[in-house]
Amino acid sequence: MRLAILTSRIRVEEKLLIEAMRQRNIAFDLLNDGELLLDLARPDERWRSYDAVLCRSVSQSHGLAVAQVLESWGVHVFNRPATTAMCNDKLQTTLALLRAGIPTPRTLLACSAESALRGIEALGYPAVIKPTTGSWGRLLARVNDRDAAEAVLEHRETLGSYQHHLHYIQEYIQKQQRDIRAFVVGEHTICAIYRTSEHWITNTARGAQASNCPVTPELDALCVRAAQAVGGGILAIDLLEDEERGLLVNEINATMEFRNSIAPTGVDIPGAMLDYIEQCVLQGAER
Ligand SMILES: Nc1ncnc2c1ncn2[C@@H]1O[C@H](COP(=O)(O)OP(=O)(O)O)[C@@H](O)[C@H]1O
Ligand SMILES: [Mg+2]
Repeated sequence: MRLAILTSRIRVEEKLLIEAMRQRNIAFDLLNDGELLLDLARPDERWRSYDAVLCRSVSQSHGLAVAQVLESWGVHVFNRPATTAMCNDKLQTTLALLRAGIPTPRTLLACSAESALRGIEALGYPAVIKPTTGSWGRLLARVNDRDAAEAVLEHRETLGSYQHHLHYIQEYIQKQQRDIRAFVVGEHTICAIYRTSEHWITNTARGAQASNCPVTPELDALCVRAAQAVGGGILAIDLLEDEERGLLVNEINATMEFRNSIAPTGVDIPGAMLDYIEQCVLQGAER
């Protein structure tokens, strides 16, 4: 198998993938998205020499755009751009989860600050306002009262770029200082971690502690369904534990970070990713 890894920065994750490819004797190239210039009507033959391309760009928009071009040139890309596009956009993810009947926090959409405020008051405080694109818990706001809601909405409308003029508003799930991050590869939830923090935002990029979360049959089934709702592949599913409703799927990440999840779970995540890609490539070749 010959792989290309599309990167912008070699993070710990990419180093682990490189190590795993060397162990498996997989031939690979590292391609920096910043150096690419794609002439859309003239597919560069070099790309077709790869059995697959794994997108690991740090920038969601760069990774998605390049993946879309490569797929239209007939290159086998992980994840599929349609899946990545859905995961990069929290509104699209929520709609896909709802269509699949997967429990998710109640979410409202508003196009003006006035309607957004009405929505927040209908949900009750605290409520969460999120950008529909983004990661690492950036620009999330938990608003505890009307004053805070008005302030955040005014800031979004006045200082935000046009993406922030769409208000994605969510009920706050009273979680116990943790959420769950589960890793789905193909049809299996290979492992999961609890992310525990004193802060309500529990991304490990924001300092939350990772510990092993047992993959129960319930967690596995829900995560695999959630992954399939966005088209499947190699995905990280964020879940919130609600006291009454149980597990709710919060969001899905298509270019996941996993550096903090290998030690607590004992699972070789990069190895599982590569095995899955190899299996897909082999199946594709048989067809
Ligand atoms: N509705 C919510 N209720 C409670 N906590 C939330 C809610 N939404 C997000 N969080 C917290 O904020 C974190 C980041 O939110 P998330 O929607 O996953 O955005 P990001 O894409 O930035 O990771 C979650 O892992 C969780 O700890
Ligand atoms: Mg998240």
